[in-house]
Amino acid sequence: MAETPAQEQTTTTIINNTPTNVEVDTSFENDSSYGDELSSYSESLVSSVLDYRHENGRRYHKFRDGSYLLPNDESENNRLDMLHEMYLELLHRKLYLAPIKKPQRVIDLGTGTGIWAIDFADLHPEAEVIGCDLSPTQPTLVPPNLKFLVDDIESEWAYEKNPFDFIHARYLAGSIKDFGKLIKQCYRSVKPGGWVEFQDWDGYPRSEDGSLDGTGLQRYYDEVYGAFEKAGYEVRPGVKLEQWFKDAGFVNVHAEKFIIPYGIWPKDPHLKKVGTWCQAGAEASGYEAVALAALTRHKQWTQEEVIALASQARADARKRDIHTMFDFYVVYGQRPEN
Ligand SMILES: C[S@@+](CC[C@H](N)C(=O)[O-])C[C@H]1O[C@@H](n2cnc3c(N)ncnc32)[C@H](O)[C@@H]1O
Repeated sequence: MAETPAQEQTTTTIINNTPTNVEVDTSFENDSSYGDELSSYSESLVSSVLDYRHENGRRYHKFRDGSYLLPNDESENNRLDMLHEMYLELLHRKLYLAPIKKPQRVIDLGTGTGIWAIDFADLHPEAEVIGCDLSPTQPTLVPPNLKFLVDDIESEWAYEKNPFDFIHARYLAGSIKDFGKLIKQCYRSVKPGGWVEFQDWDGYPRSEDGSLDGTGLQRYYDEVYGAFEKAGYEVRPGVKLEQWFKDAGFVNVHAEKFIIPYGIWPKDPHLKKVGTWCQAGAEASGYEAVALAALTRHKQWTQEEVIALASQARADARKRDIHTMFDFYVVYGQRPEN
């Protein structure tokens, strides 16, 4: 990743920018000041990130075009914000479970709308917080101790010399191909004694009474996540997180499993609330959101076929006698002090 401490950057700049190395572009016709040329160059840099891909009626990220299969448009962002409320309900209003004290430097990987990072920055004004994502879709009015970066967390990072006290990642199922590698990057980029926490799904739903079996909703997940898996993405990271943390060298690894019901069917008021947010999120962005790019790009489905699959899934998800649920995991671990 791009960020380097100020000290480091100065050194690099002096070495790489000696006049003998840098050839001057003499193609500019007027000799006055930068003006138009500067704005045209910065506009092209900005547009390489903001010139979103539009496909099948949805909008997708441009930076590292094609590497993430979900949209980044308004209805998808509404879904992510509703799910944020769902996780807060699930974890009894806690943003994280790791026993962090007074973190100075924190990063949220794949921050999405930035809603977790905004809440965290408000809660910890002492911390410098970074939210990092492929899409620059986060709001601009945010706490002063928070900044957002466009970056690819599956590329090599440059944080080892300026490590974090806390690294957080939530709902990267379907985003990441090599979680083991990513968690090792986290280990190298967190301070000794610092904590890393991942909160993630088993993307495939289940039912305890068999009511999901053979339904259109089950077929939807089998087809859609089958396409993600074909394309190389991990869609069931939750249950594997604990082992990946241990393999990376973390100690004091703690794993907790939660149930996320789909819909209002549970009797328990807490689970009913969680289930309501879960389904409301899916309805907000449409069942097409998760399915479209995966099935059209990787399984050659047509848009119409995806819409038909999604509408059957939506109809089944609304049935009270189908008792769908997901498993969700929160895992945190500490880098040893020495
Ligand atoms: C399902 S969303 C979750 C967003 C957020 N963590 C949350 O829980 O609300 C996954 C996010 O990860 C981002 N993402 C996917 N692959 C990424 C990558 N390689 N580098 C950075 N961000 C990535 C996507 O753009 C998207 O915003």
